[in-house]
Amino acid sequence: MSTDSSRRAFLRQSLYVAGAAGLGIHAGVGPAYAQAMAANADAAADLQIVNIGANTLSIGPSRPALEAIARTAPLSGDYGRGQSREFLETLSAQLEVPADHIAVYPGSGTPLGLAVTTFTSPQRSLVTADPTYEQAWRTAPRVGAKVVRTPQRRDYSHDVEAMCAADPKAGLLYICNPNNPTGAITSRADIEYAANHRPPGSVLVVDEAYIHFSDNAVSALDLAVEADDVIVLRTFSKLYGMAGLRLGYAVASPANLERMNAHGGGSVAMTTLAAGTASLLDPGLVPARRAATTRMRNETVAWLQAQGYPCSTSEANCFLVDIGRPGREFQDAMATHGVMVGRSWPGHETRPRISVGTEAEMQRFREAFTAVAAGQRGPLPVPQRPRMALREAAADPARMPFAC
Ligand SMILES: Cc1ncc(COP(=O)(O)O)c(C=O)c1O
Repeated sequence: MSTDSSRRAFLRQSLYVAGAAGLGIHAGVGPAYAQAMAANADAAADLQIVNIGANTLSIGPSRPALEAIARTAPLSGDYGRGQSREFLETLSAQLEVPADHIAVYPGSGTPLGLAVTTFTSPQRSLVTADPTYEQAWRTAPRVGAKVVRTPQRRDYSHDVEAMCAADPKAGLLYICNPNNPTGAITSRADIEYAANHRPPGSVLVVDEAYIHFSDNAVSALDLAVEADDVIVLRTFSKLYGMAGLRLGYAVASPANLERMNAHGGGSVAMTTLAAGTASLLDPGLVPARRAATTRMRNETVAWLQAQGYPCSTSEANCFLVDIGRPGREFQDAMATHGVMVGRSWPGHETRPRISVGTEAEMQRFREAFTAVAAGQRGPLPVPQRPRMALREAAADPARMPFAC
């Protein structure tokens, strides 16, 4: 069977099953419904799935990164041939950060988890903004730490005064700059305020997963070198298009890195390290991807706002759009058109997150959005994914499913 015809057959089968499941099938009604669904199979098979739900870049790694992987892969019978040292040296020179202040991990989610596990406890809480990337919310309860969420300011920047005052017993303050899911930036003055006014004994973690997309966010890397208890996290999963290759790093004092790494860490494949080095050495990569993403984001936001859907002011590859109805319904309806958009955060249910993709992907987004706004479903079944109710997730962050 050709790939196309097997895909059609698969879709026909899955649409049949989806139709049957949707109706709790019984004689007479179910088969007719399922046949009607299957009639859509050809239309469904022609739809390319667009994933603008995970803040990743579908264009993937840069060409030099792919070439580095191809060159390195045949050497993989060894544990490594200097790729780790080369990556660290390149990074250290480019960031102007001493190598002993850098620790490399398979993604930045790893050091984020380690930081929360190390610096929070039943006596020392986690303080974050709301909404923000939820990984720390999920991790803190596992070590018995309280999660304190402070609402963001109206411009979606972090309310650093409220964060510093939220709990004198805080163990870790988490600032995501630019923030996921809003894309909003927090000023350098505010980051410095947080670094200087955080409760005694706490650390400040600045998550810069999206900083490469931003024209105005100022990095806290220098603070992580100068101040003992500031930790900066970065990843290759976003602008560098390497989410599946797993590469990230933490910049912190050697003492804090040692404390974090006592809880684990994990090694990175030599192919991934080689791709990381090649990406760092490609001078045009960050500016070109930043410019393309900014253009697509601004165009999409302008299109949505012109139709009366307010959006967050973003400097990342994601933003929130207020659609005035439950985000989950919208997410499901968009998925029937083959366009996977992001989730909504507890307390912000009508504002799903949209990731910014290529021109073709955002064109598909606009078409699907227009159809969904007119109440039209597409030919695909709603994906079956286990989901917690948002209310439940808010009450029990430790059980939140993994999400980007
Ligand atoms: C703000 C933020 N930090 C960290 C991560 C973790 O990314 P990774 O582990 O792929 O580097 C993500 C993933 O979406 C994120 O949005």
